[in-house]
Amino acid sequence: MAKKFYVTTPIYYPNDIPHIGHAYTTIAADILARWHKIKGDEVFFLTGTDDHGKKIAQAAEKAGKTPKRFTDDLIPKFKNAWKKLNIEYDRFIRTTDKDHEKIVSEVLQKVYDKGDIYKGVYEGFYCTGCEAYYTEKDLVDGKCPVHKTKAEKLKEESYFFKLSKYQKPLLKFYKENPDFISPKKRKQEIINRVKEGLRDLSISRANFDWGIPLPFDKKHVCYVWFDALFNYYSATRQKGKEKFWPADVHLIGKDISWFHCVYWPAFLISAGIKCPEKVFSHGWWTFDKEKISKSRGRVINVDELISIAGVDSARYFLLRATPFGDDGDFSKEALIKRHNGELANKLGNLILRVSALIEKNRIEKTENKLLRKLKVKQITEFIDNYQFDKALSDIFSFIDVCNEYVQNKKLWETKDKKVLFELKESILKIADLLWPFIPESSEKIKKQFSAKKIKKGEILFKKIKWKP
Ligand code: MSP
Repeated sequence: MAKKFYVTTPIYYPNDIPHIGHAYTTIAADILARWHKIKGDEVFFLTGTDDHGKKIAQAAEKAGKTPKRFTDDLIPKFKNAWKKLNIEYDRFIRTTDKDHEKIVSEVLQKVYDKGDIYKGVYEGFYCTGCEAYYTEKDLVDGKCPVHKTKAEKLKEESYFFKLSKYQKPLLKFYKENPDFISPKKRKQEIINRVKEGLRDLSISRANFDWGIPLPFDKKHVCYVWFDALFNYYSATRQKGKEKFWPADVHLIGKDISWFHCVYWPAFLISAGIKCPEKVFSHGWWTFDKEKISKSRGRVINVDELISIAGVDSARYFLLRATPFGDDGDFSKEALIKRHNGELANKLGNLILRVSALIEKNRIEKTENKLLRKLKVKQITEFIDNYQFDKALSDIFSFIDVCNEYVQNKKLWETKDKKVLFELKESILKIADLLWPFIPESSEKIKKQFSAKKIKKGEILFKKIKWKP
C-alpha cells in the first residue's frame, strides 16, 4: 500500500535573495521527495517564507517599502531560485497566506482557552537577527552570541506561553520517540538543556504590528516563531492534505534545532495536535573556510552556485561532499574537482563509451551478473537514514565497477553483445538511483538508454578548467 510522506524545509526569511544555506536544505528535501516518489509513496513537499516579524519589518523600512510590498518583491526570487535548482515542491507557503493566518489565530485561541497563555511583563533581551529572546547571561559582552550585534533591551507587556509546564511532557515525548531529534549527536545537548528547566516564553509583541494579531488581544501580534512553526501544520489543513499531518520530517539547519525540538512540540502538545515524527538538523557550510556572511560579502547565492558547474553538479556536490548532519566547507575548487573527477570522468565517461559501443553493435539479453554488484539494499538504507554521501559513494563505486568491466572485457575488440546488455541495464539502474540527486542528467540518460536505437549522445558533464 502506498504510504504518505510529508517533508518540509524551514520557511526562509525573505529579507534577501536565497543563498547556499537555503539551497542546501531545499535540495535535500527535494531529494527525499523524489526518493519517496520512486518508492510509490504519496508525497507532500512544503517550502515557503517567513514573512512576519521585526526583522522583516526593519528590512522593509530600510528599503523604503511596506513589509507586504517588500516581501512580495522578494518571493519571486525564491521561487525562481528553486525552479532553477529543479526543486519540485508541492506548495510554497507564506505566513501572510490567509489560510495560515486563520489556523494560527485558532490555535492561539485554543491554547489561551486551555490556560496555557497568560499576560505578564517581559523583561530581558531580544536579538532581531535571531528573532529570539535572551537573558543577560546568554549574551557575550551585551551582544547576541550568534550575530555579535547588540541585543535590544526590552521591558514590555507581553503574553507568555507556559513553556515551563511542558518540561516533563517534552522529556517523556523524547523518550517515547527516540528518533525525533536527529541526528543522534544533537539529541543529548537538547535534552540536557530541557532538563535544566524551561522558562515561560513571551509569545507576543506590542510595539510593532507586522504579524498576526492575538485573537484575544488585538493590540498584540503573535511572536514570529510561534506563527512560523505552525506553517507546517496549517499547510495540511487544506482540503485533501489532512492525511499528511503529522509531518514525517522537518529538515532544518542546526541553528534552529531548539525552536523545532522544544518550542514546536510543546506548542503542539498544548494545542492537542500530534507531533511530527522527526526533526533532522543538518550542519552549516563555510565558504573557503570562513563563516558565510552577507555583510562581509562571503556568500554564495543560488545563481553563483549554479554558474560554477551547472545545477546537477551543485546538487551533487552539496550532498556528496559532507555527511548531512555535519558541517562542511564549500569552495569552487572542491565543487569543480568533484564535477570533473566524478561526474565527468566516471559517470560521463561510462555513458559516452557504452553508448558509442551500443550505437555500432548489437546487444543480446542475458542474465545480468554485473548488476549484482550494485548494493541496492545498502544504498536504500543510506538514503532512508539521511546518509546521502554514503549512498552516492556506493553508487559511484558501482560506476567504477562498470568502467572496469568495459576495460577488462576488452569491449572495443570483442563487442560482446551480452556484456553490452549488462552495461545498458546497469546504466539504467544507475540513472534511477541518481534521479533524486541529479534529475536533469538522469532523465537524459534514461531517455538515451531506453530508446529503440541507442546513440552516442552529447557530453553530459563537460570538464571545467579550474582557475583560482
Ligand atoms: N525563518 C526561520 C525559520 C523558520 S522555520 C519555521 C529562519 N530563516 S532563515 O532564512 O534565517 O534561515 C533558514 C535556514 O538556512 C536555516 O535552516 C539555517 O540553518 C540555514 N542556513 C543559513 N546559513 C547556513 C549555512 N551557512 N549553512 C547551512 N545552512 C544555513 O531561520
